[in-house]
Amino acid sequence: MTTTATGPEGQAPTDAATQIAPAGGISAEVLGQAVIDSFDPAWRHDPYRAYGILRAAGTFLPGPLGTSLVPGYAECAAILADPVWSHAEESELLHPASDVELPGSFLWMEPPDHTRLRGLVSRAFTPRTIEATRPTARRVVDELLDRALAVGELDLIEEFAYPLPLTMICELLGVPASEHAAVRRMSAGIARGLDPDDLLSPAELAERTAAVGEFREFFGALVADRRADPRDDLISALAQVHAEGDRLTTTEMLGTLLILVVAGHETTVNLIGNGVLALMRNPDQLDALRRAPELALPAVEEMLRFDPPAQVTTRTARGEVTVAGRVFTPGEAVILVLGSANRDPRAFDEADRFRIDRYAGGARVNRHLALGMGLHYCLGAPLVRLEVSEALRAVATRLTGITLLADPPPYRPNIVVRGMSALPVRVAG
Ligand code: HEM
Repeated sequence: MTTTATGPEGQAPTDAATQIAPAGGISAEVLGQAVIDSFDPAWRHDPYRAYGILRAAGTFLPGPLGTSLVPGYAECAAILADPVWSHAEESELLHPASDVELPGSFLWMEPPDHTRLRGLVSRAFTPRTIEATRPTARRVVDELLDRALAVGELDLIEEFAYPLPLTMICELLGVPASEHAAVRRMSAGIARGLDPDDLLSPAELAERTAAVGEFREFFGALVADRRADPRDDLISALAQVHAEGDRLTTTEMLGTLLILVVAGHETTVNLIGNGVLALMRNPDQLDALRRAPELALPAVEEMLRFDPPAQVTTRTARGEVTVAGRVFTPGEAVILVLGSANRDPRAFDEADRFRIDRYAGGARVNRHLALGMGLHYCLGAPLVRLEVSEALRAVATRLTGITLLADPPPYRPNIVVRGMSALPVRVAG
C-alpha cells in the first residue's frame, strides 16, 4: 500500500494530561500519559495497555479537542444506541483544517436524511447482491494463496489483505480490473485523511485533497457512464434505485461510493491483518480453526472484538442527556473508544483473551462494538463476514504452517482506522 509519511509523532492531546484529575488510585501523570499513548502513532502496535488504564481511571475522561473520552462498553453502547447523539458533526470536529469537502455520506447524517439515503442504498446493497460475491471471494483467496505458496513467503497485508477486499468492492461496483490499483491509491490517501487534521502533516493533508479530487473525477465518470449504459453492477443498481418517486443524486451517489470504497475497504484490510496476526500469536486458536473450519464465522466476530480496525468514533449531544449519571449539554462531543469498550472486563469474560469460539453457537455474550450499534450500524457487515470468513477458512485449511517473521510488525500511524503497514510471514502448504 502507499505508506504515507508519519504525522507529527506524539502530537497527541497534551492539554488533556493537565486537565485530568487522579481517579481510582491512578496518578494524574500516569493517566495523562495513557491518554497520549492511546492516540500516539508510536503506540499503534498496542493501544490496549493504555486503554486499560483509561477504563480503570473513570467513565468519562477529558480528551483531545475539548471532548470527553468514553472507554467503557456500557457507556459507549448507551451513546451509540441513543439518537440524541449525532454523528453529523464529526467532520467539523476532526477536520477543521480541511480545504476539501468529502462528498457527504449518510454515515455523517441524521434522520430524516440518513433514513432516506440509507433506505435507498439498502435497496441496491441487498443480501442477495452480497451472497452473489461468494464465488469471487473464494476465487480471489485461492489465487492469492496459490501465489503465496509458490513463493513460500509474503507480506500478508500487501499480498493478501489488500487485494481481497479491493477486488471484491471493485468487482461489486463494476470498476474495471485495469483501474483497481488507481482506486487503491485514492482510498489509501483518503483513509489517512480521516484522522484528525491536527495529527496530519502538510504532505498528508495535500495527499488527501488530491485523492478526494481524483476520487470525484474517477467515480463521477463511472456514474455518468452507468446512468447512460446500465450493467449488472452496484453502481448501475444505485443509479436505478427508485422509491416512491425518490432517487439518489450524483452527489449522493459519490458520498455513498466514498464510504463503500474507503471505509469498507481500508477497514476490511486491517481486520484480515489483525485477525491473522491474532491467530499466529495464539497457535491453539489456529489449531482449533483447522480442526473446525466452521468456526470461521464466530472467529470473524472475535477478531472484530479483539482488535477492531475502527478504533474510535465520535458523537455530539443534540439535546441535554444523562449518561451514567453525567449530564451532557447540547454541543458536547465524545470520543467513543470502541477498541477499549471491546476489551472491557465488565462486558466480556477474559476480555484480553482471543477465543475464536466466544461467539459460537449463539453464545450469550455482549455484542462487540466494532461495527457500531444503532442507526449507523455498519451497512457492510454481511460483506465483511462473508469475505473475511472465506479468507480465514482458506488460511486454516490450505496452510499447514504460517509463521510471523517480525513481531511486533510495523503499524501505520493512522488512528481512526488502525492497522499494520506490513505483515511478513512464511507459509507452507
Ligand atoms: C472490518 C470491516 C469494517 C469495519 C470494522 C466497519 C466499521 C464500521 C463502523 C464502526 C460503523 C459505524 C460508525 C459509527 O456509528 O460511528 C460503520 C458504518 C458503515 N459501514 Fe462499515 N465497517 C467495515 C466494513 C464495511 C464495508 C465492507 C462496507 C461496505 C462495502 C461498509 C459500509 C459502511 C456504511 C455504509 C456505514 C454507514 C452506516 C450508516 O451510517 O447508516 N463497512 N462501519
